[in-house]
Amino acid sequence: MAHTRQVAYLNDYDVATVQVDRFDVKNLGSDTAKVQISRIEYSPEAAEKGAFPHFMLKEIHEQPQTVRNALRGRLDLEESTARFGGLNMSTAELRGIDRVVIPACGTSWHAALIGEYLIEELAHLPTEIEYASEFRYRNAPIEKNTLVLVITQSGETADTLAGLRESRRRGHKVLAMCNVVGSTIAREADGGIYLHAGPEIGVASTKAFTSQVTVLTLLAVLLGRIRMLSGSRGREIIRALEAIPSQMERILAQNDHVRRIALKYAGCEDFFFLGRQYNFPVALEGALKLKEISYVHAEGYPAAEMKHGPIAMIDEKTPTVFVIPTDSLYEKTFGNLEEIKARKGPIIAIATEGNDRIATKADEVIHIPATIEPLNPLLAALPLQLLAYHIAVARGCDVDKPRNLAKSVTVE
Ligand code: G6P
Repeated sequence: MAHTRQVAYLNDYDVATVQVDRFDVKNLGSDTAKVQISRIEYSPEAAEKGAFPHFMLKEIHEQPQTVRNALRGRLDLEESTARFGGLNMSTAELRGIDRVVIPACGTSWHAALIGEYLIEELAHLPTEIEYASEFRYRNAPIEKNTLVLVITQSGETADTLAGLRESRRRGHKVLAMCNVVGSTIAREADGGIYLHAGPEIGVASTKAFTSQVTVLTLLAVLLGRIRMLSGSRGREIIRALEAIPSQMERILAQNDHVRRIALKYAGCEDFFFLGRQYNFPVALEGALKLKEISYVHAEGYPAAEMKHGPIAMIDEKTPTVFVIPTDSLYEKTFGNLEEIKARKGPIIAIATEGNDRIATKADEVIHIPATIEPLNPLLAALPLQLLAYHIAVARGCDVDKPRNLAKSVTVE
């Protein structure tokens, strides 16, 4: 990056010979190599840690800006909808979709689960998410008017790529939501949406997740507005999205508070993460972050499902992180929280600002600003990322390069 911003992407079976002043590309297969030079749009500093001790912490703090980048140029306030440049689909084609299938892996799969809730609520389109590794070998019936949307930060995950290729082979139109410009999946898809989050270098995905959720919200608004979503609701969602970056800044300002909580619980060996509705995928993601970088056993569950087994594991040494913003299921979730407290489980609550009652039951409270229900994940994810980060640092783990993991899994 310090030497050039020009890049040539290699295709399968391409071999490049690089010399001081030139390079040649040959293809070992039958094709002649097609070399195209692209320009990298981000600056060299974007790929450096700067003042931060780890890339992960830097990327967590970049989220107000990366969400702004994901929204830029995509809001249509006049029509109360969203627009995307690269979908390569007409409004009539988008209107013709009657089902959405989303294959993805890891953190991208968690974003996809939020996408399912968003698209079903805002556009009333049946949506199904799939682990890409299962999807590629499962002979799942996919009807003619199904839109396949693959979600991948890197655009190189082998299982997701295989899912895309299999879907295209069957004649489906495949859209890709990627961060890495020019990646294999971005190039092979029929249309796509870029996250514009800049390079994500920490192995544990953070800023890509919130960008994925931002873009999925816009897509759900777009699909909704050509169906039954009212203009006033569309506008309400767009306005709430615009407020998210500054609300994120307020959460990040609580970094020291989250660190103090992390230090208190860093010695625990088991954690639960619970939430309901939109907050359930956030609980899954919070547990994954902790597992990935601190090697602590953590399980994410829908809060009310806990009583069907896992609650047996609760004791005074097993903290539960509750994602419990003030929403339509708040009272029900509060009941689930009381069930954990009655079993002496320590509770760390992620609650909405102004909720002081929660402190009567929870041992620790991290407040997030109020937003509309579908956008709570965009805010609630941040304290969980910080919590995982500080616990991992306290345990002496290599946060940016956790053991056994790779940033992009390009093998099966
Ligand atoms: C790896 C990474 C995860 C990531 C997953 C999917 O397992 O360690 O952080 O979520 O791959 O990656 P993708 O690039 O497809 O989003």
